Amino acid sequence: MSQRIVITGGASGIGLAFARRFAARGDRVALCDADATAVQAAQAELPDAIAMTADVTDPAQMESFLSRVETDWGGADVVCANAGTGGPAGRIEDLDYDAWRACLDVNLNGAFLTCRWAARVMRGQGQGLILLTSSTSGMHGVPHRSPYVAAKWGIVGLTKTLAMELGPAGVRVNAIAPGAVEGARMDRVVAMEAAASGLSEDAVREIYVKGSSLRTWVTGDDLADMALFLASPAAARISGQVMAVDGHTESMVP
Ligand SMILES: NC(=O)c1ccc[n+]([C@@H]2O[C@H](COP(=O)([O-])OP(=O)(O)OC[C@H]3O[C@@H](n4cnc5c(N)ncnc54)[C@H](O)[C@@H]3O)[C@@H](O)[C@H]2O)c1
Repeated sequence: MSQRIVITGGASGIGLAFARRFAARGDRVALCDADATAVQAAQAELPDAIAMTADVTDPAQMESFLSRVETDWGGADVVCANAGTGGPAGRIEDLDYDAWRACLDVNLNGAFLTCRWAARVMRGQGQGLILLTSSTSGMHGVPHRSPYVAAKWGIVGLTKTLAMELGPAGVRVNAIAPGAVEGARMDRVVAMEAAASGLSEDAVREIYVKGSSLRTWVTGDDLADMALFLASPAAARISGQVMAVDGHTESMVP
């Protein structure tokens, strides 16, 4: 049966991989993203989708997006709080407080408005899935990435807590923890971590590969496979979980 899928940060990377795969199987997709150009491109590729420019940290913009979804669809079956940015890299004593706050703002605070809306709507429906995007950084320590890691551990706490608040109403809440994903974003992260650590970019890439038991990076499609599984009846009894798709991260420390 066709589902109503809402995705934040849905115009590129993992969010777009989710949007493509849900749309391809006939689901209705609504995505928002702060990048207006990427939203335009996503709308061109997925003409039936609701695609709007909205920043997850901006209450007025999120109200416009989410109220459009509610008006058009009357609710949502799967809400993916996925938007995120890498944040700054560096030793904590070298980090700027504004950069710290900006990272927490998008990666943790940015999930609040989306989850609050989803909780209200889904409690009323008596069903639904809230799917947050954490990270393997939400399961390990990662030197020089303290604000991002703190935010992604925060997402795990939010997942566990919302699963408890909403479970009795029939609503499931889970998180996906991607490992290093092939693509432009990890290229940027690798360059930033290399600069912060003094290592070469190849050496940083090697750390990510060797840190996983399967000696691998992952793809947006690997993550979309997990999202589709969690949205399926086969996952009807799965809630409060952080599902890593990462080849099993053993360590993120050089
Ligand atoms: N790429 C990885 O290796 C990796 C690993 C672990 C976790 N993650 C997480 O996966 C999620 C998606 O990341 P991605 O890899 O697809 O990155 P990406 O940069 O390719 O895509 C993220 C999207 O979110 C959007 N975005 C950023 N800030 C936003 C905001 N304030 N409001 C709305 N949209 C915003 C960006 O414009 C972009 O389109 C993030 O939460 C990220 O932290 C990524």
